[in-house]
Amino acid sequence: MLETMRWQAEESFLELLDQTALPHETRYLKCYDYSGVAAAIKRLAVRGAPAIGAAAAYGLVLAAKNIMARSSREDFIAGVEIAARELAATRPTAVNLRWALDRLIKRLYAVEAVDPGALYDILLGEAHAIYREDVADNRKMGCYGQELIPDGARILTHCNAGALATAGYGTALGVVRAAREAGKAVSVYAGETRPLLQGARLTAWELLREGIPVTLITDNMAGYLMAKGKVDLVIVGADRIAANGDVANKIGTYSLAVLAEKHGLPFYVAAPVSTIDMSLTSGGEIPIEERDPAEVTHMAGRPLAPAGVNVWNPAFDITPHHMVTAIITDRGIVRATYRENLMKIFAGG
Ligand code: MRU
Repeated sequence: MLETMRWQAEESFLELLDQTALPHETRYLKCYDYSGVAAAIKRLAVRGAPAIGAAAAYGLVLAAKNIMARSSREDFIAGVEIAARELAATRPTAVNLRWALDRLIKRLYAVEAVDPGALYDILLGEAHAIYREDVADNRKMGCYGQELIPDGARILTHCNAGALATAGYGTALGVVRAAREAGKAVSVYAGETRPLLQGARLTAWELLREGIPVTLITDNMAGYLMAKGKVDLVIVGADRIAANGDVANKIGTYSLAVLAEKHGLPFYVAAPVSTIDMSLTSGGEIPIEERDPAEVTHMAGRPLAPAGVNVWNPAFDITPHHMVTAIITDRGIVRATYRENLMKIFAGG
């Protein structure tokens, strides 16, 4: 399986698979400083909530590497915190980004070491742990989630919630992989996902490479596809889930939930607990990133729309909890009432 990122231990730098070049070219960006990682996250060279969390963690390690030689403990922590603020601001919706950065900073405060070299080693260890745990959590999610997938299911997904969006295996596509590993003959419809085409460029490519049957559709075909009885269920990932179960995910997810409800189809969300933000009571409080209008007016750098037209380009939308059949997490499957049942999985119950 292709790696979304790899830490080059000998020279201490990060390589990121440049997802903007896929599916035509497989190339890695070399990041020697946190600002390179921040720029890569902003331009979606690395994208998908868990992947940007892990990349930001390594970004913080790079910030630490570049200041450790000339810092006291206090200066070192202050410098790392400046970098963390800059990394956290790159993409506001995916909570995994802030979750990963907070986890590293907490580790710094939890140890008594004064030597910045030792603190750097601790940060690197924690970034590696986030990366490793993400793959393990996705496999657990796959195990739980595949129970919901009937043999022969035709699954509609949106955006890319696969290996490319994570440290490996994927969330929504992890469930598909696990169903296949359990011997089920499943197939996938991938919505192309305008404006940046993560479905067409990434999901179609990822599934084709593995020999998982995939059919590409444009986003506006989903309703007719369901009306023709060609879909059994929908599974998507998430960028943030509020305490009441409202889900922020790639723009267009809400439209699929409405269509699924209309056609009586299950609508599942697969996400690790690091995507659940219990500090927000509902989806209305989730910050929604708005991106460059050129993403809508242009395709592959070429203008499609008249110059000067007004554009609205929210990158995510909110699907209300009552439209979500179940949330598949690495700690099990959660159903309504979400507020109560999400609290239970956090409490370990
Ligand atoms: O803008 P992107 O490509 O980062 O958006 C990604 C999504 O919306 C994914 O569905 C979500 O991050 C879950 S990925 C496991």
